[in-house]
Amino acid sequence: MDLLRSGTRFIPKTLNDDGDNAVTYLPAADTTELEKQRGYKPLYVGLGLVGLAAVLTLTTGLLVWHFHLRREEMILKKMYFGSMSITNQRFIDSYNNPNSQEFQQLGVQVYLFTAHQCCLPSLSVAVCLSASKTYTYHIGKLPTGTIESPGFPNSPYPSDTYIQWRLHAERGHRVQLMFDYFDLEDDCQKDFIRVYDSLVPLEQQVMTEKCGYYKRNEPLSVVSSGNVMLLTLVTNKEKNYPGFRATYSQVPLQSQDCGGKLTGLKGTFTSPNFPSHYPPQTTCVWDIEPVKSNNKCPKDHVEVNNEKICGYKPYITVVTVRDNRTTVTFKSDMSYVDTGFTADFEAFVPTNPCPGKFACANNLCINNPLTCDGWDDCGDNSDERNCKCGSDQIQCRNGLCKSKFWLCDKVNDCGDNTDEGNCGSCQSGDFSCRNGGCISENLKCDGRPDCPDGSDESKCSRSVVMQCSEYTYQCKNNQCISKLNPECDEDVDCEDGSDEADCQCGKRPYRHSRIVGGQDSSEGEWPWQVSLHVQGSHVCGASIISDRWLVTAAHCVQDNVEVKYSQPQQWEAYLGLLVQSQSNKWTVKKNLKQIIQHPGYNKDSYDNDIALMELDSPVELSQNIWPVCLPSATHDFPPGKSVWITGWGDTMELGFAASILQKAEVRIINSTVCETLMEGQTTPNMMCAGVLEGGVDACQGDSGGPLSFIETSGNVFLAGVVSWGDGCARRNKPGVYTRVTKYRDWIKRSTGV
Ligand code: ARG
Repeated sequence: MDLLRSGTRFIPKTLNDDGDNAVTYLPAADTTELEKQRGYKPLYVGLGLVGLAAVLTLTTGLLVWHFHLRREEMILKKMYFGSMSITNQRFIDSYNNPNSQEFQQLGVQVYLFTAHQCCLPSLSVAVCLSASKTYTYHIGKLPTGTIESPGFPNSPYPSDTYIQWRLHAERGHRVQLMFDYFDLEDDCQKDFIRVYDSLVPLEQQVMTEKCGYYKRNEPLSVVSSGNVMLLTLVTNKEKNYPGFRATYSQVPLQSQDCGGKLTGLKGTFTSPNFPSHYPPQTTCVWDIEPVKSNNKCPKDHVEVNNEKICGYKPYITVVTVRDNRTTVTFKSDMSYVDTGFTADFEAFVPTNPCPGKFACANNLCINNPLTCDGWDDCGDNSDERNCKCGSDQIQCRNGLCKSKFWLCDKVNDCGDNTDEGNCGSCQSGDFSCRNGGCISENLKCDGRPDCPDGSDESKCSRSVVMQCSEYTYQCKNNQCISKLNPECDEDVDCEDGSDEADCQCGKRPYRHSRIVGGQDSSEGEWPWQVSLHVQGSHVCGASIISDRWLVTAAHCVQDNVEVKYSQPQQWEAYLGLLVQSQSNKWTVKKNLKQIIQHPGYNKDSYDNDIALMELDSPVELSQNIWPVCLPSATHDFPPGKSVWITGWGDTMELGFAASILQKAEVRIINSTVCETLMEGQTTPNMMCAGVLEGGVDACQGDSGGPLSFIETSGNVFLAGVVSWGDGCARRNKPGVYTRVTKYRDWIKRSTGV
């Protein structure tokens, strides 16, 4: 059938567009107006770039011919898009604006003859990039299909590419796109994908832009508002990553759980598609009527909240409605979608909203002991006001009480700095030297050590050669330099280059997500993590430091009456393991040749809780088996910084061991604070890390495993070894780790590493 004559379809070959009837992709397409106009006039593009002119003239000519001569045959509700290529330019934001200098310098002039103004803003965008390839898929004929970046999974995607995939679902459906593998360069300025709620890359209809890595167990998924979607991949010259694989399918328009009536005294509802991205242009209205208005609470008075909430809320947000019913409306506009929300509702009796509990100002109910404890448990701080501070608390000027553990930890816990004033003796404008003393800020990084310990020269971009001390880094040639943590920071600081030698350690073959939450690790995420087994079961963790040596905790290799843990033949080391009892082709099982327990290990105090294990033969290093970097003796891991703990230990105090390698982010805690929190049981050979609110920690079975510090260069350093704790994940009880910097020389002497 001649599609043109039939009046149903028009497929201009040069435009590679099938003019699908889903006219959802341009704003303000008003059909009544369209009817008056009787069809579309052509899109005419003139540009000052030689070479393209011929092609364009041809295209334009064809279009003019088609449109003018066939005008009366057009279906009225159609949109046509043209695109042209400027192959030697990279798209920059200002090209969105035809009036910008950049746009005009590009020598592009765009004329659009159309009955409909709404096309205008789209054109400058449509002009922006030349697709090296366009794929078009019609879902419906085949219910699902797969899209992969070029070369996936065998080779990285190519450089300098722009590819687009157009997806059409059947009428009355949405397009759903789910990425089951996603690994692009981390910088979205360089390589990225974009998903549009249209068939052409209109800025106003970008749903999302993504780069970096997404974990397999948290698939990334997006849904369109209508029956079309466009996926684009843009890459630059440098760094090509494995890419992505995605599955597309269609879902009926009405299938989404969006709005409705909610009854009952308690319940939960979420934005459509949660925890995946909600579709654009969606409105959901929930009627919450928890208490039937005729019974129980006839005296309730009315107060309606018209509060709008948006953005990311890391803490719980409470909205109180003083009425026996309310509506919640969720709305998404044309562009940029996100993962939405999950909400709980609960009805309460206004005269006694929290029987037996503390009622926060926002009507959240919390347990009484949580009031006046220094933590904002309500979310609006109302549990921390009007408190009488205890003797173990700081009285903040603003009336709050905070645990005195927080004094001078460089975090403004009071909110008004009461806890951080009067800490050092230095005045403002002065630099406080690490070992005490003040010097003028101006002397910092001036190339001359002014503090007695030289610490004024230690956090500088340039390094000075200095007398060796606990604040300097010693190069292989024995010279000491002032720069803090110069190893593997991608700048050569030592004259002999030794600070940048051996920097293959601690590199992870796959970069890992910035998605927070979720505890399972992914394959190859912690390639130095080892599982140590005795008699067939996991007992302790360890870290790979070379192809022959592991570091673990001394208490793991301590004999007891039943088992001689100090004997190498008791142990089996599993390297490259993710799931216990699921070895795969990357997993290597090794026996041990020798175990060296630290001679200073004290089984009562757990001081010097570190041991070395030698494998019976070297392991072949791979993406899943890789050594972590050992920090130099003077490497600084500052309090407040993030570190990662990993292991197959218990997931709860008195709980069960994990089967998938778990990971959690905790923070390094100041040693004097930790000394107090742990009631004087720590030594300078220990280091504390945790989340003092509780809930995140290492636990039984994690011992011996790594405390991994990810440096900005990407190299991961072994900051600590899981050692002990008071229970697990209790409030104000951090985990205690063996401070690895203290053992750098001992490790070198014992293993040569
Ligand atoms: N000693 C424990 C083990 O053998 C590790 C305890 C770590 N505890 C903690 N709360 N961080 O596995």
